[in-house]
Amino acid sequence: MKTSQHNKFLSKIKENENFNQYWYSENTINILMKEIHHQFYSNVTETEAETESFRIAFLSTPSVYSSCTDVKILRQSCLFDIDSSLALSNNTIKLTSEDICGYVSFDFNKIDLIDKRYYNKFDMFVIDPPFVTIDAWKKYAEAVKIIVSNLCENGQLLQELFGKEMKPLKFLPCIPTLVYQYCFFANFDCMFLDSFKNEEVLSSIDEMVMKH
Ligand SMILES: C[S@@+](CC[C@H](N)C(=O)[O-])C[C@H]1O[C@@H](n2cnc3c(N)ncnc32)[C@H](O)[C@@H]1O
Repeated sequence: MKTSQHNKFLSKIKENENFNQYWYSENTINILMKEIHHQFYSNVTETEAETESFRIAFLSTPSVYSSCTDVKILRQSCLFDIDSSLALSNNTIKLTSEDICGYVSFDFNKIDLIDKRYYNKFDMFVIDPPFVTIDAWKKYAEAVKIIVSNLCENGQLLQELFGKEMKPLKFLPCIPTLVYQYCFFANFDCMFLDSFKNEEVLSSIDEMVMKH
C-alpha cells in the first residue's frame, strides 16, 4: 500500500520499533482530525475556545496530535507519550512552561509519575496503546481516570473499563505497516468516524485477498 508524503509528521518521523510505533495513514489521521475538530467546536463556543473549556489528551497518539494545526485546540491539548523525541513534533504553537499543553513525558507503567497539574484537567481522550493487552488497557484506563475532568480489540474489555456507552465505530483505522486490523471505539456520538467505512482499509483487504 502507498504511504503519503503530504503529512509532515508521516514524512519526517520514522516509526521506532523499540516503542512499538505504528502510525495511522494520512487519510485516517485526517478523518480523526475532522472528528476531533467537530467534537471540540460542538462542545465550546468560539469565545470559550479561547479559554480552558475543553481539553484533549492524546495518549500515545502522536501522529494525530502532531498533525493538528488548529491553534485553539492545540492550546488546550497534550500529547502523553514515552518517546521524548516527539516533544517537538508539533511546533505550530510556542509553549511556555506555564501552559497545560504540548508534550508530556508519560510511561503507562508509571502513571503515579503523572504531574499533579494534569489531574482532573481533560475532557476528551484519543488513545492507541503500544500493546492491546488487558494489562496495558487497564493502566491506560487508570491514567484516564486521573486526568479526566468529567468521567464520563476488546470491545467488552473497553466497555468494562470505560463504560457501556463505549462502542465500535464504522470507520476502521488504516495503519499501513501493521498487519492487524484494529477498530476505533468511542463513548460519544461521532459525526465522521461512525458515518462511513474507510475505503483505504477495504481496498487493502481486497489486495490481500487477491494476493492469496
Ligand atoms: C501503536 S503506537 C500508536 C501510534 C498511533 N497509531 C499514531 O499513529 O499516532 C504506540 C504508541 O505508544 C507509545 N509508547 C510506547 N511505549 C509506551 C509507554 N511505556 N508509555 C506510553 N507510551 C508508550 C509509542 O511511542 C507510540 O506513540
